[in-house]
Amino acid sequence: MELIDGKKISKQIKLEIAEEVNKIKQQGGVIPNLAAIIVGHDGASETYVASKIKACEQVGFKSTEVRYEDTVSEEELLNKIEEFNNNDDIDGLIVQLPLPKHISETKVIETIAPKKDVDGFHPINVGRMVASLPTYVSATPAGIMELLKRYNIETSGKNCVVIGRSNIVGTPMSILMSRKSYPGNSTVTLCHSRTKNIKEISREADIIIIALGKAEFLTADMVKPGAVVIDVGITRVKSDKTKSGWKLLGDVKFDEVAPKCSFITPVPGGVGPMTIVSLMKNTLLAANNEIYK
Ligand code: GUN
Repeated sequence: MELIDGKKISKQIKLEIAEEVNKIKQQGGVIPNLAAIIVGHDGASETYVASKIKACEQVGFKSTEVRYEDTVSEEELLNKIEEFNNNDDIDGLIVQLPLPKHISETKVIETIAPKKDVDGFHPINVGRMVASLPTYVSATPAGIMELLKRYNIETSGKNCVVIGRSNIVGTPMSILMSRKSYPGNSTVTLCHSRTKNIKEISREADIIIIALGKAEFLTADMVKPGAVVIDVGITRVKSDKTKSGWKLLGDVKFDEVAPKCSFITPVPGGVGPMTIVSLMKNTLLAANNEIYK
């Protein structure tokens, strides 16, 4: 069994991006600038946005953070997005989700200019991904593809079972793994809450990608010996064994599943650290006008 070390790979990629930024600086080019809008004081969102801003500093990007109280009107938020769309100093623009109920996430996502949509959430960018056109692939799926690539994991002709059909992870993952490229060329099955026989299906999988948000859902009896298991879950649970009093659990019952696997991602330190570097990569693509020329 080999552990897929997302922490290590993400550090390498940050160094690679920092090197790119140095080259850009030497050549007098545009330093990438990521704008992040956060609404309200959701704990997880605060943490994610702070990590994104910190990652920008680490790789040498500029960042622009805008904060609104959760009483902000939809109109004011949409106006700010328009302003950033028209501001040539901003290369990438993200609005941290979730948003308060009175603001339409769909409207917000559709207002972001596709060429600045480094989250890859705009329907145009999702459509471009489905059509195998150059696009911003959203951060978690892009991070998983990068891990498969960097560990040279064979995907062609393999049975890949994706568990969970969210717009952000499961659905794009199922499309990327079935695409005619590497990683890809897998035979994909997408399982979700209405799937009747998940265990029978997952037992046939060479590759399992699980993004359900149900702690320790995947047990050893659901996994074929030698399978590759990618765990996207992060559930925070109370623990008396850690200093903070909390620990993170994945969607995989790691202790019993890991010994059966050829490769597995741990939680934490697997997929998580890759998502932010994927966002940095997309921001670099945006600054270099590589997707929308
Ligand atoms: N909320 C949870 N994940 C994400 C993400 O990748 N981007 C944004 N903008 N919000 C999120």
